Amino acid sequence: MTLRSTVILGTGSYAPERVVTNEELSRTVETSDEWIRTRSGIRERRIAGPNENTSDMGAAAARRALDAAGVSPSEIDLLVVATFTPDMPMPAAACLMQRKLGLPSATACFDLNAACSGFIYALDTACAMLTSGRYHKALVVGVERLSSVVDWNDRTTCVLFGDGAGAIVVGLSEQPGVGLLGTKLGAMGESADLLCIPGGGSAAPATPDSITAGGHFMKMKGKEVFKLAVRVMDEAARDILEQHHLRADQISLVIPHQANLRIIEAISQYLELPMDRFFVNVDRYGNTSAASIPIALDEARRSGRIQAGDLTLLVAFGAGLTYGSALIRW
Ligand code: UT7
Repeated sequence: MTLRSTVILGTGSYAPERVVTNEELSRTVETSDEWIRTRSGIRERRIAGPNENTSDMGAAAARRALDAAGVSPSEIDLLVVATFTPDMPMPAAACLMQRKLGLPSATACFDLNAACSGFIYALDTACAMLTSGRYHKALVVGVERLSSVVDWNDRTTCVLFGDGAGAIVVGLSEQPGVGLLGTKLGAMGESADLLCIPGGGSAAPATPDSITAGGHFMKMKGKEVFKLAVRVMDEAARDILEQHHLRADQISLVIPHQANLRIIEAISQYLELPMDRFFVNVDRYGNTSAASIPIALDEARRSGRIQAGDLTLLVAFGAGLTYGSALIRW
């Protein structure tokens, strides 16, 4: 008996309670609700409480995914957490989540950093480990506490990001042709400087001067990133469709990374697929990086926008610059 298909058994998500509206931000930086809405589609974002860490949000989303799957923590033997905002540089947020979730000590736990494409990278990694036959049930989590790496005085970035978490439980199935059908991952390291946190790593450890200069905050060349995002997400979507001999109109729902409504609209035009085939929640959460796709996936599942037999396309782009697409048959 070969168990080659990897299927999503349940989804869950978590967003902090505190809602920060555009209007609220316009009281602290020179911006306006109108500018943020028209340039990005964002109306509000969630911001974690002072004692609410990445591992707390990730564990909350994971509990909901376990509940939805009807899987107990004791059955999990693999936890992959996509994040670039772990609670601390070491140990991995995955290990802190393992403790909070009560996962067995025989669970392989690690973080993976592919920024906004992180969830698709983590999904691919977990599914490859499951199909190796050496693991049986995985939790895959995308979680970010971006409010801790955003410069709240920089209007070009602070209006765009939010906090949150999404999770899925993945298992093996004997049924062929379901679950994760394929992925396409890649990166363009030559453009790494367009979106980065230059300080606080081993190349530029934090010093009083570097902290005063704000080296530990996220820096982004928004316009350049925008143009690349549209081109590369369109290509990543086309590549995977071609690989599987599919047309765009055979996809029931595209779940794109939620960075900017205008990016999603441009991809909809390029793929000639109407916007009602795209899941959008960037208006309510802003850009939550690795958490954006699993939060959207969970909302799409729970609201009935994904049904058995449907084909879903995930597509993302982020710092690195990384990109990824994935095809799922439900
Ligand atoms: O998740 C990873 C990937 N990240 C992304 O995909 C983000 C990609 N980039 C974007 O979404 C867009 O480039 C932004 C939303 C960041 C910016 O939109 P834009 O249309 O590219 O605007 P811009 O950067 O060209 O800025 C236009 C003007 C500038 O003023 P000048 O130079 O024309 O006088 C900015 O200084 O808007 C100004 N501006 C703002 N004004 C009010 C920039 N930020 C703000 C702001 N409020 N928050």
